[in-house]
Amino acid sequence: MKDFAGKVAFITGGASGAGFGQAKVFSEAGCKIVIADIRQDHLDEALAYFKDKKAEVHAIKLDITDRKAYAAAADEVEKVFGGPPQLLFNTAGVNTFGPAEASTYEDFDWVMGVCLGGVINGMITFVPRMIKSGRPGHIATTSSMGGFMGGATTAPYSAAKAAVNNLMESYYQALKPYNIGVTCLCPGNIKSNIAEAVYTRPKNLEKTGYNVDEKTINFLRSIHAQGIEPVELAKILKKGIEDEVLYVVPVPNPEEMLRNTLERIVNYASAEGIKRQEEQMRKMFEEMAKRQPQGPGPSMNFEDVGFAQARKDLKWVKQTRMPGAPPPKK
Ligand SMILES: NC(=O)c1ccc[n+]([C@@H]2O[C@H](COP(=O)([O-])OP(=O)(O)OC[C@H]3O[C@@H](n4cnc5c(N)ncnc54)[C@H](O)[C@@H]3O)[C@@H](O)[C@H]2O)c1
Repeated sequence: MKDFAGKVAFITGGASGAGFGQAKVFSEAGCKIVIADIRQDHLDEALAYFKDKKAEVHAIKLDITDRKAYAAAADEVEKVFGGPPQLLFNTAGVNTFGPAEASTYEDFDWVMGVCLGGVINGMITFVPRMIKSGRPGHIATTSSMGGFMGGATTAPYSAAKAAVNNLMESYYQALKPYNIGVTCLCPGNIKSNIAEAVYTRPKNLEKTGYNVDEKTINFLRSIHAQGIEPVELAKILKKGIEDEVLYVVPVPNPEEMLRNTLERIVNYASAEGIKRQEEQMRKMFEEMAKRQPQGPGPSMNFEDVGFAQARKDLKWVKQTRMPGAPPPKK
């Protein structure tokens, strides 16, 4: 898709971070924007931003894990704009980190419910409506680089994002005959409010195996403060949509990054490969440790801040240490 003027774009998580960046960039490209978000304060801030702009923006408070509410939101879009969106951005997501072995059912149900379930709900709600409208369209889902790899402390998030990547490839093939493109955005670090994701965690899924408190939230804030600007990211995504590519990997050398991903899988399939892989990872972490700022800034040592550790009462779980990290502060 190259011409965005007058098209309706439905953006989940559209009131903050990556989604808000998409709302800004695609409204400037001429789209009518629907921002759907679970946080009313984020919706209010986003609407305040658009108040003096020429953009046509409609806000809907929506929890994307609620299928009934999602269908109602789709009906509302048709009422307000006279038809379903031509552009769907599945952008809302949450994360929480801790040792895989400490995870609870609730850790998986919450993260996978939003990051994978929410995307599935978006597809089931909108794809038939988009096809029936007979108009060309595009679906852009924000996954993560984390979807290309597992991690000792990222299990629910990585699993959800890996599934999202795979799901988007299926839809990419399935929707071609309908002139509906599919793009899967796989960023690294974004300047966003995702450190606060835990604030929207539902009460019935609050039981976690991870150590999460204001200190770990602040640590994550300091990490995300160094991420890519959402508007810059949305511009990269726009180019990907225009080029109709499936994967958009916003790093300086995406091909090298994807080749390394495939090589890692090949390495894990033999004893010699595993040795190679472990050596590569040791070197990578050593390099990362060297690049750490000496002064204030995010510590490489997760133990210092309690980040990505197990809940304190789970004494049987080993503490998480980044390979190559300096020794913990006493
Ligand atoms: N921040 C990063 O470094 C990073 C890296 C890679 C991928 N991502 C992905 O980018 C996407 C956007 O995240 P962000 O970093 O901009 O975070 P963000 O928290 O700034 O924005 C996400 C928005 O989604 C909303 N949201 C959360 N749960 C929801 C639900 N159930 N229903 C509706 N809205 C919900 C939040 O209220 C928030 O406004 C996510 O899918 C995330 O996984 C983020």
